[in-house]
Formats: sequence, C-alpha cells, structure tokens
Amino acid sequence: MITIIGAGKVGGEAALFAALKKLSDEILLLDIIEGLPQGEAMDLNHMLSEQGIDVNIRGSNDYSEMKGSDIVVVVAGSGRKPGMTRMDLLKINTSIVKGVVENIKKFAENSMIIPVTNPLDPMTYLTYKVSGLEKSRVFGMGNMLDLSRFKQFIHQATGYSRDSIQALVIGEHGENMLPLARYSSVSGIPLSSLLPKQKIEEIVRDTRQVAAKVIELKGATVHAPANAISSIIEAVVKDTKEVIPIATYLDGEYGYNDVSIGVPAVIGRNGVEKIVEVELDSDEKGWFRKGVDSVKNAISSMEF
Ligand code: NAI
Repeated sequence: MITIIGAGKVGGEAALFAALKKLSDEILLLDIIEGLPQGEAMDLNHMLSEQGIDVNIRGSNDYSEMKGSDIVVVVAGSGRKPGMTRMDLLKINTSIVKGVVENIKKFAENSMIIPVTNPLDPMTYLTYKVSGLEKSRVFGMGNMLDLSRFKQFIHQATGYSRDSIQALVIGEHGENMLPLARYSSVSGIPLSSLLPKQKIEEIVRDTRQVAAKVIELKGATVHAPANAISSIIEAVVKDTKEVIPIATYLDGEYGYNDVSIGVPAVIGRNGVEKIVEVELDSDEKGWFRKGVDSVKNAISSMEF
C-alpha cells in the first residue's frame, strides 16, 4: 500500500500518476481537511473505473488507516507563494512534517518514507531523525524534479529528442542546486560537444530558477513533481536499481556528515541501496558546499 500524506495539488496528482502506473493495488490519501482526500479519491476512482485500472484509492482524515503502508509520501504543508524561496517555508513546515512523521512512526513503522514538503533537504533530515528509520528508508524527492527541468532546457537548446537526453542534478533542492552539465549528455555525447559554454551556463542558471517562474505564472508546480514522485516509487516497487538523485543522510559521502542533501543513489526494493559518489571539480564542489552550508544552517535553526 502507498500512503500519500497531503492530498493537495501535488499529493492528488502523485496519486494519479501512481495509479496510472499501477504501482500498488491500494493508495491512501490522507489530509487534515475534512472531505478533501475523500473527494479526491472519488474523482480519481471515477477516472480509473473508465480506464479499467483496478487500483483502489481511498481518502481519509484518520492517520491510523495508514497501517501496513509500504511507502509513505509526505507532501503535507505549505507551498511557496510568488517571491518566496523554499527556505521561507522552514518554520511553518517543520511543525507540520514533525507531526506527520510522528504519526508514521506510530502507525506505519515498517514503511519507507519519501519526503517532498519544502524545504526538501531539511525536511528529509527531520524525517530521518524523528522517524528513527534506517537512513536507507528515508529519501527525499527534489533533484529528480530539478533534472526534469534541466532535461527540458537541454531539449529546447539542442532540439534533440527528449528520449535521448540524460541529465543529472545534485545538491540542495533550492537556491544552490547543482545541475551537473559535465555528467549530462545526449545519447552519451557530452553537452560541451553540442552547445557553446555560454549556452550551457545559461541553462544551468535557468534550471535553478525556473520553478519560481512557474509559481509566478500558475501558483504552484504540480505535474512535474508528481511525476518525479511516481518515478522514485516505481524504482522501489519494481526494484529497478535505477540511479536517481535523492536527498539522503550523508555519513561521510561527498566529504560531509550529519546532513541530508541530494546525491545520486541506486534505488531499489531496499530504498537507497548505494550512494554513488561522482568526482566533482572545484567549481562543482563549491556549489555543493554552498548547498550543504545552507541546509546545515536551516537544520541548526529547526526545533524538533
Ligand atoms: P497544497 O497546499 O496544495 O497541499 C498541501 C496539503 O497538505 C493541503 O491539502 C493541506 O491540508 C495538507 N496538510 C497540511 N497539514 C497537514 C497535516 N498535518 N496532515 C495532513 N495533511 C496536511 O500544496 P502543494 O502544492 O501540494 O505542495 C505541498 C508541499 O510540497 C509544499 O511544501 C511544496 O513546497 C512542496 N513541493 C515540493 C516539491 C519538491 O520537489 N520537493 C515540488 C512541489 C511542491
């Protein structure tokens, strides 16, 4: 069973993707707003009925219903308004996510948790610490979304098929994210062979900033994050061993300790099965360090 806590824009759409991909027979949507998860579940089930897909979606306001969950997605909390950074959500979402994770600990202590609420990296750290789960069982979705944006810019700049584009983004899911142009390619052909340096720098910059643009235009980002959540769940339930950048707790990897931040990892039925360490040049190390500093700074101000 997959439980999604927070049946708002991203949570509802994540249920849609998970159901269409048949990632579980049963999906539970939980929210504190009475009626919202129930209504969302009805609407989704109507769609699934017509599609002939036997995935059952339930909506509830009762946390105890998540008993037996294999995977719990935490997407409860406030989203940023135009002009805000993800870090501006730290205070309000810390107390929400803490409460949610305490309930997961109570009712679904054997699950894996995928934090999504922003600011993603501090929320992943909080989730790991409060849940008491092994670090391999808590992995946040942030860079998977960032790389989908990076891919779109590469597609636009080259005109080549999206299917042939490989891209990697690591680091903070925030102002200091690190789109790794050196590790991104079109069918193995490095970006540096396809685009001028200036253009690569431009799309790296745009990748960092484009979410704010979407929020300015439509109020929230929805489809791309929901898809990214479903891709991570798919890697777990199908045990694909796909290398996906996720936010996880570092214990010396990349030279850092006691912080959760985005790094590439092998994702399979056991969650984070291995963190993949890629070599970074001095500029890349600088961005990664800025991300770590920002996340550590947030963590030190969190009360939980
Ligand atoms: P939304 O406002 O549409 O939905 C949030 C839902 O959480 C609401 O329905 C609210 O009632 C519910 N909620 C609040 N406290 C709760 C609690 N204690 N238990 C259960 N439900 C609770 O917001 P949206 O757009 O779905 O975004 C949700 C979060 O996801 C935000 O923090 C946003 O910044 C983050 N986000 C993260 C992304 C990522 O890449 N990691 C991408 C997109 C959004």
